[in-house]
Amino acid sequence: MKAAIYCQSGGPDVLRYEDAPDPVAAEDELLVRVEAISIEGGDTFARRKIEPRFDPHIVGYAASGEVIRVGAKVRGFAPGQKVTTFAFQGSHAALRAVPAATSWIVPDGLDMSIAAAIPCGAGTAALALDLGGVQAGQSVLVQGAAGGVGIAAVQLAHRAGARVMGTGTSAATLERLRDYGLSDAISIGATSVRDQVRGLLNGKGVDLLIDCVGGGALNDGLLALKDGGRAVLIGVVGDPGRPVNASHLIMHRLTLIGCLLGAIMAETPVHRMIASLLEEAARGDLRVPIDAEYRLSDAAAAHAHAEERGRIGRVIMVP
Ligand SMILES: NC(=O)c1ccc[n+]([C@@H]2O[C@H](COP(=O)([O-])OP(=O)(O)OC[C@H]3O[C@@H](n4cnc5c(N)ncnc54)[C@H](OP(=O)(O)O)[C@@H]3O)[C@@H](O)[C@H]2O)c1
Repeated sequence: MKAAIYCQSGGPDVLRYEDAPDPVAAEDELLVRVEAISIEGGDTFARRKIEPRFDPHIVGYAASGEVIRVGAKVRGFAPGQKVTTFAFQGSHAALRAVPAATSWIVPDGLDMSIAAAIPCGAGTAALALDLGGVQAGQSVLVQGAAGGVGIAAVQLAHRAGARVMGTGTSAATLERLRDYGLSDAISIGATSVRDQVRGLLNGKGVDLLIDCVGGGALNDGLLALKDGGRAVLIGVVGDPGRPVNASHLIMHRLTLIGCLLGAIMAETPVHRMIASLLEEAARGDLRVPIDAEYRLSDAAAAHAHAEERGRIGRVIMVP
């Protein structure tokens, strides 16, 4: 099969489109002919920062496609079904062997590119809001609001009845997020996130921080929380910045919660939550903007595009 592989971490140019051995599905796995690959923030992060586990290594979490074989112990899936899948590697390929436990049947009518983007992006946003205990009437700050996780968090927090604030590099892009439920745009720049948030809330902080950026941005977000507020940490893409100030957590009675979807995706409540997000997307109640589509043979260009700042939505590749 063809795949976008790399042998050492680095910039987008480490990706090469080459022949790789066809994967073999284990007894608890599906073999899937990939139709759409969603480039996730975790994919670009892994390619940039994490040395490959295999040589050559096929990066990538999220891909949708058609089941062409099911492992002997798999129940509930059959060849010919359209599925969307998650695994910690292997999406950037024409074929992928993936655990059935982290696969979902695509609802009728749902576009395969959007289906590819739902489990990781919207799934993480929904889990984070659940961990943060979002409630109607609360104020929620989403850092990295225009990213794949962020834009889902904006929609889901808005639907929960919260006032949603979001940070981003481009004021024009943040304006577009109003259509997804963003109430207040916080541009990263001259004025601190803390001051912008407190200016909007008459000096108070937000109830809940959903941080898709991390690094130095986490500290900025923590300063924007009210006393007793909660922060859910999702991303580690931000500049390293300073370590978290533990005294600040104590003095302001803050709760910092780590969120890692991939570790619990196969658990029944989380698997069901993602199935219901797919249904919502099929009904048009949850939207995933697709920014651009590339061929898998142009994976380096696709990754470079996905890493551009100030964008909105997902970059998709097709084999
Ligand atoms: N813990 C989990 O379970 C989990 C699950 C999924 C994803 N993640 C992580 O969550 C993060 C977001 O994922 P994603 O798929 O939403 O990524 P994405 O679509 O690439 O979006 C990332 C967002 O972060 C902002 N950003 C990028 N680089 C930044 C930097 N150096 N400093 C500040 N902001 C930056 C960008 O906003 P602007 O361009 O507007 O600045 C962009 O909208 C990634 O780190 C990913 O690895 C974690």
